[in-house]
Parts: sequence; structure tokens; C-alpha cells
Amino acid sequence: MSISTYPFYLANRAVHANTDLAVEDKHTGQTAYRVARAGAAEVEQAIAAAVDARQAMAELPSHRRRDVLQHCVDRFQERRDELIEVLIVEGGKVITDATGEVGRLIETFQIAAEEATRIGGEVLPMDITPRAERFWGMWKRVPIGPVSLITPFNFPYNLVAHKVAPAIAAGCPFVLKPASKTPVGALLIGEILAECDLPEGAFSILPADREASAAFTEDERFKLLSFTGSDEVGWALKARAGKKPVVMELGGNAACLVDADADIDHAVDRLTFGAFYQSGQSCISVQRVQVHESIYDTLRDKLIEKVGGLKKGDPRDSDTFIGPLISEGDAERVVDWIAEAVDKGARCLVGGKREGRIVTPAILENVDRDCRVYDNEVFGPVLVIEPFSDFDQALEIINDSRYGLQAGLFLRDIDKMHRAWNRLDVGGVVINDVPAFRVDHMPYGGVKDSGLGREGIRFAVEDMTEIRMLAVRNMR
Ligand code: SIN
Repeated sequence: MSISTYPFYLANRAVHANTDLAVEDKHTGQTAYRVARAGAAEVEQAIAAAVDARQAMAELPSHRRRDVLQHCVDRFQERRDELIEVLIVEGGKVITDATGEVGRLIETFQIAAEEATRIGGEVLPMDITPRAERFWGMWKRVPIGPVSLITPFNFPYNLVAHKVAPAIAAGCPFVLKPASKTPVGALLIGEILAECDLPEGAFSILPADREASAAFTEDERFKLLSFTGSDEVGWALKARAGKKPVVMELGGNAACLVDADADIDHAVDRLTFGAFYQSGQSCISVQRVQVHESIYDTLRDKLIEKVGGLKKGDPRDSDTFIGPLISEGDAERVVDWIAEAVDKGARCLVGGKREGRIVTPAILENVDRDCRVYDNEVFGPVLVIEPFSDFDQALEIINDSRYGLQAGLFLRDIDKMHRAWNRLDVGGVVINDVPAFRVDHMPYGGVKDSGLGREGIRFAVEDMTEIRMLAVRNMR
């Protein structure tokens, strides 16, 4: 098999040096791509170029920022099949998940193209006091300057898009460090951005080792650090980020509740998807489910049957639902966590076996809430179910977690919906669907250990811009 190589992007230009970062096909374990790896010197050059590009980017008219983003949309559409193929290989994503992510990549850039022309301000009445009668006032949003972006392995396109597209919409130069296990997605975005007429230094995309990466967090020339990844790494980076604001999109152990009057078949379908798509490698995949005791046995039996029938194996096969985890080490970790729960009295109702990097989708009940499959983020195909009798207590159980990203509730009672929306300590509540539901213009982010700030293009643009006031004294 021939191995394609990919350059990194430094100040908008492709650089074909040091292509020694091997990227595996996650299904076969073979090296599939070789990628140029940046060192500390290139990271420094990228930051200096971003600083130099600051003014030109800020002055780029909104129609030009929109056109850059629209160009990306058009080119992603033209290259859709190639993008899907890369995602299957470097991400190990099954073809339906890969196709879905490329669709979302296109939508996210489309939303950003529209948002680029909507970054406005307000006229402010100043005559609230006699001393300001002769004034008029206005404020507008201006880009904050160079931003540092760090992205994870699990959505190599769309979680890059959620940082890159708002940076362009806002007029901020950026330096991005993609995940070293899945860097090619970001580099393909770079290849398409390099076709655009952007000010020199507007963007750099640099796969880099940890040793070469300190500046992404610590360099004071960056005006924002936006990170998506594990909570452990995220909070450690925040502590080193100095004065710059941070946006942290971190982990979760998302919960669901299925109430007595829910449509059971619908809930089973959606829970199966929400817990096991991408083999559970999403921050909002369903991990814990509270099921009303009156329907618990029925729902459990239907879930076991459905999940037991999910096909695992080759991601290219259109029937495959369960593909490989990102590494064999992760697959080992997931089955260890299941074993720990079983040792403490849990019943594994289906799945939970490892075959190389694949873990068969597991449903557990009777799980001690101190077990890691319950109170940590599994990031693998594991679902814990438990019965509840009292709705308000079930909300408290959902809240009894150090995480708080999204929660999903299957119910019909509008008062319960309001109670859940008011009381659940999460960034988003989804009714009659799973927390894994996300549309890319929604405000998205977590509370507690799940993070700080919101993405969803308009909200990311707010973080990448700041308000600047103009007060004018009328001289007549
Ligand atoms: C995440 O895993 O952080 C993002 C999930 C999504 O965008 O669907």
C-alpha cells in the first residue's frame, strides 16, 4: 500500500519537512499516512506571523471572510468522498459516522460563512443624564487578535471546524495544533484554506509534539486559548495559560432519563445510537441511564436485543456500527473498567469483550456509583442502566457527577421538562432525544469539570471578539 504524505501549514504555506509523524489506519493498525511534524521553532514562526497578520485580518471586509468560508464549503462538497475516506482511515470511523461528520463539517463552515456578515454592534442612547446630552454612542465587536486552538482526535474535521471557522468569521489569525493520532483532517482543511486569498500569517496548522507545544498554552501573544479534549489535560493547560481567556470543551459522562410514559421503542433506538455511535468516543455519548422502574425490565430487554445485534468490524462495510477504538490501549482500559465494575457486583448484560481495538458494546446494571464506568468518562462503548422511582431524585442522581455537559430526557410531562431544564446542572438539556444530539449552531459546552465557555459559531465568535465603544461629542 502506498503511503500518502501531508505537509503542515506555516503562515498559510504548505511545508513538506520532517514527515516523520506516522498516522495509523485504526482498523488495520498499519501506517497509512505520514505527516510533517513541527518543532518549537516553527511554532514560534507561526505565532510571529499571526501577530503580523493581526491588523490585515481585522480589516478584511466581512464579504471576504464570508467568501473564504464559502469557498471551503464548496471545496468540501467537491472533495466529500476523499474526506470521508481519510476519516475512516485515520479515525477508524465507520462509514455512516464518517459521512455524518463530513456533513457536519460542511454545515459548520456554512453557518460561519453566514455569521461572518452578522457581527455587528448597537447604537447606544447617551442622553440618560444631562452631562451626556450632546453625545451619541455606538459599540461594535472587534477581533481579539491571534488565537491558539488545540483539537482532539474524535472529530478530526468538525471539532477543528468549530474553532477555525469562527476564527475566520471573526477576523482572528490562528495557530492550530491538531491531535497527533488524527492530524490529516485538519491538514486537508489547511490545504483548502491555502487556496484562499487570506493575509499572510492568517493561519498555521502544526502537528507538534508535546515538547514543542508549550507556546500554544503559555505564549502571551495569543489572546485566547480554545481547547477541546480531556478534562485532565484541559484544566492543567488553563493553569498555565496566564492572562489570556480560555475556552475549555472537556469530557462528560452524559446521563439520560426515560420516564414511565416515554415511547419505549423510540428511547431504545436513540439510546442505542447515543451510547454506541463512534464506539462511544464522543464527549456527549450516553453513559448513564435512569429508567422508570415501571418500564425498566421491558426497556432493558429491548436494549439488550438491539445492542447485541450491532455489527462490529470493518468500518468500510455499510452495515458496521461498531468500529475500532482509537488505540489498543484504550480498548484495554475500557474492558479493565468493566471488569472493575463486575468485581464490585455489576452485571454485564451484553458485550464488554475486546477483540484487538474493538470492544463489543456493553450494557451494565447494578453498578456501584464509585466505579469508573459510572463516574469517569469512559469514551468507549459502555452504557450503565439503573431504575428510579422518583423523578426529582433521579434528577439529583444525574447532577451527582463532577461533569455537566448535556443530558437527555424521554418524557411527556411539560412540568417535568421545566423542572429538568431548571435543575439539571449541565450546558444543555435535550427532550425526547439523547444528549449526543448536537446541531452546530447550538450553544454547546459544559459546566463543572466539563468545561468553560460555549462553542456553536455565534458563541465562539463572541469569545474571539471584544466590544469597542465609540462616544462622539456633537460640537453644535
Ligand atoms: C465532542 O465530543 O466534544 C463533540 C461532540 C459533537 O460535536 O457531536
